[in-house]
Amino acid sequence: MSEADNRGTSVLLPSSSVSIYTKDPETLRAAQETEQDWRFARVKIKIVDGDVETAIQAYKEYASPDLVMIQTDTIDEAFTDRLEALAGHCDEGTSAVVIGPVNDVNLYRRLIDMGVGDYLVRPIEKTVLADVIAKTLIEKIGITGSRLIAFLGAKGGVGASMLAQATACGIADILGQKAVFLDTAGGWSTAAVGLGFEPATTLAEAAKVAAGNDEDSLNRMLLPLGEKLSVLSSGGDVMLEPTITAEQLEMLVGKLMVKYPVVIADLSQSPDILRKIMLTRANQIVLVTTPMLPALRLGRSLIQEIKEARNGGHMELALVINMQGLAPAFEVGKKDIEAAMECPVAAQIPFEPKIFSGNEHESRRLTDDAAGRKLVEQALLPLVAKDLGGGLEGDAPPPEKSGVLNGFLRKISSKS
Ligand SMILES: Nc1ncnc2c1ncn2[C@@H]1O[C@H](COP(=O)(O)OP(=O)(O)OP(=O)(O)O)[C@@H](O)[C@H]1O
Ligand SMILES: [Mg+2]
Repeated sequence: MSEADNRGTSVLLPSSSVSIYTKDPETLRAAQETEQDWRFARVKIKIVDGDVETAIQAYKEYASPDLVMIQTDTIDEAFTDRLEALAGHCDEGTSAVVIGPVNDVNLYRRLIDMGVGDYLVRPIEKTVLADVIAKTLIEKIGITGSRLIAFLGAKGGVGASMLAQATACGIADILGQKAVFLDTAGGWSTAAVGLGFEPATTLAEAAKVAAGNDEDSLNRMLLPLGEKLSVLSSGGDVMLEPTITAEQLEMLVGKLMVKYPVVIADLSQSPDILRKIMLTRANQIVLVTTPMLPALRLGRSLIQEIKEARNGGHMELALVINMQGLAPAFEVGKKDIEAAMECPVAAQIPFEPKIFSGNEHESRRLTDDAAGRKLVEQALLPLVAKDLGGGLEGDAPPPEKSGVLNGFLRKISSKS
């Protein structure tokens, strides 16, 4: 009956649960194929050989899922009565979609009036089923669960870019998480060297296609660097002209977070205005400093400013001391750093020119080298892994409500 609006559903769907009650082999097949769709990696689909009665029995006993789909052969008063009964056993917020035998506008309107999210007529193709589920889940839950990890140096040249790139490679290649790397430095980006790609676009172009909802062009700008890691292939920007605005960057990052569970942003060498918006939005901030006074001094002020920019709200900040041992006689000890910065040191990384400059010189990623990989595993991944390994779901912020009426039969009743 109603066509799912395809636009905007081509995204990794939020963690959620869907139960489909059907006895129809065709719907069953479509549901099984939907489970294989990449967008559904975080959606638990339960296919039940049953109907509205089976669903009522189930939700008398168990909590209802985010979306319940009911297939029925008969659409009459008796069925809508049973649908009302089902609503009485569903948790508030559960959405419902009905699959029926006939195409009938009046019936469609009545079901929608009752609070049913959509009415589909069998036979159902996989693409329609998948799009209807995707659209319903996005409207209901929003797109959440993705993590933005921002890397910034307390001062120039302290290794923020190298550590950001190495962490991104580690998240993808070692932790096996789908991730995207974004360098907000525009023409000042060194990511092309560190990650080994040819810049094919600019931040301004990427922001333009993101604002224009041009999915195909944005996808072309996202260069795969391996099975799980992609990079926004910007860097072709001019160096001495102003770059994008904070709003444009926010829009672009929003689009990336829809597609990737993890977005790693390198803020070093970026304009302050872009740094600020990312630092206020990031789920986690990795602040890199050397153990030397100038960097520590700036780092201390920076932490205060970030706190203020975030209105004193919750902040996950990992303070990383890099290049430990470069000039031991002039380095501040860990305890003193922690006392001065009023922040625990999350990791200490030794000065290792062979690993860093050596791999950089060969255009090799840190994780492609045994010693580099070990360093990433031991020092960098523990900083981010806690919130990634399966943590993407549980640690996600509460879902954004779309404001659209989605609660199944909310107008009629709900389990109190
Ligand atoms: N632990 C380390 N040991 C040795 N060399 C390092 C280490 N960390 C980074 N480097 C080297 O320091 C140089 C600067 O690193 P990087 O470009 O990552 O710094 P940055 O903080 O991003 O600088 P910028 O402020 O220019 O953006 C690079 O050549 C890198 O290989
Ligand atoms: Mg840098």
